[in-house]
Amino acid sequence: MIVKTLELDFFRNYIHAAADFSPGVNVICGENAQGKTNLLEGVAYLSSARSHRARYDRELIRFGVDYAFLKGEVSARGREFTLEAKLHRGERRQLLSNGVKLKSAAELSQVLNTILFCPEDLSLIRAGAAERRRFLDDGICQLRPRYAGALAEYRRLYEQKTRILRDWEEKPSLLDTLDDFNLRMAQVGAVLIHYRAHFIKRLSALAPPIQSNFSGGREKLELRYETVSTVSDPEAPAKILLEELMEHQQSHRRAELEARQCLSGPHKDDLTVEIDGQSARQFASQGQTRTAALSLKLACRELFREDTGEWPVLLLDDVLSELDQRRQSFVLERITGGQVFITCCEDDKKLARDGKRFQVRGGTLTE
Ligand SMILES: Nc1ncnc2c1ncn2[C@@H]1O[C@H](COP(=O)(O)OP(=O)(O)OP(=O)(O)O)[C@@H](O)[C@H]1O
Ligand SMILES: [Mg+2]
Repeated sequence: MIVKTLELDFFRNYIHAAADFSPGVNVICGENAQGKTNLLEGVAYLSSARSHRARYDRELIRFGVDYAFLKGEVSARGREFTLEAKLHRGERRQLLSNGVKLKSAAELSQVLNTILFCPEDLSLIRAGAAERRRFLDDGICQLRPRYAGALAEYRRLYEQKTRILRDWEEKPSLLDTLDDFNLRMAQVGAVLIHYRAHFIKRLSALAPPIQSNFSGGREKLELRYETVSTVSDPEAPAKILLEELMEHQQSHRRAELEARQCLSGPHKDDLTVEIDGQSARQFASQGQTRTAALSLKLACRELFREDTGEWPVLLLDDVLSELDQRRQSFVLERITGGQVFITCCEDDKKLARDGKRFQVRGGTLTE
């Protein structure tokens, strides 16, 4: 899939920007704080209606303005699409594909997939399980609309159950519905575990060779899925997962009522990353951490390719500046095929290959 053109109006620090991109490598150069990351964020938004660094859409609208528009022409599956996002302060956003309003963000991922790697992604290795769950959820949601639906439902159930557990002493009648919530959460939870297990299994095959190449054959990466303790095989059929989840709920029922918190379910899942048998979170060096995070993202990119038959658009924010020569050339070799956007601060001639170079200065974009 290729983002052929992009137009931004009042998006972040852009007033108006328009660009025709190369189907190969697009290098986005500029000094600090000029709008390079904002541009990648704009491309990513058209694939997911989400930003990796904004919690609310209103943060994406230019200061002092009431709306922002994004528009991209995308070529995917042999067809042409015009994707649009219209953001208004205090109103619901509108997403359109070829002029038709979309019901959900998931429909954007049916057209365009992006994989973003940015400096914050080091937290994928270093931070708590929530970051890794987010990585899994983002990846699976883009590929499997059914998962996105299940995840949204699980979150709603989780909030409602949390409310029951929080308020039951004051309002004991709330407990009448607890069993219903538990059953539904176990059913939806089983769906989440099923998808996560398969996704991790495939990542486990794709990521280690990348890490190994990256480190000149020295580093062995291993991934492992950690979920609810009663689940013996996360790849088991949903019926078995359901029983195991309900068993866990039963044994934690009392503890949940006392703690007034939801303690049972896949909302605590983790993806353990090990390098040479040691927890990467605790022991990896800075370089290993960066490499492992990048290996996960590039593995994800290959997985998307296997699934959709097309390379997702790769967005690399500030990766090269942090890597030594050998690792830089490894990244560049690894990403042939597919469209790539790379930001960089200095003019790096190496990147000039068969692609385009753009200059960003104070929210204006020139080729
Ligand atoms: N909603 C907004 N309205 C106007 N300006 C904004 C908005 N959000 C962010 N900015 C500004 O956009 C500028 C550029 O941000 P961006 O993160 O794209 O910089 P960058 O070119 O990636 O810089 P660096 O090289 O430091 O990463 C920042 O100075 C920021 O204050
Ligand atoms: Mg930046």
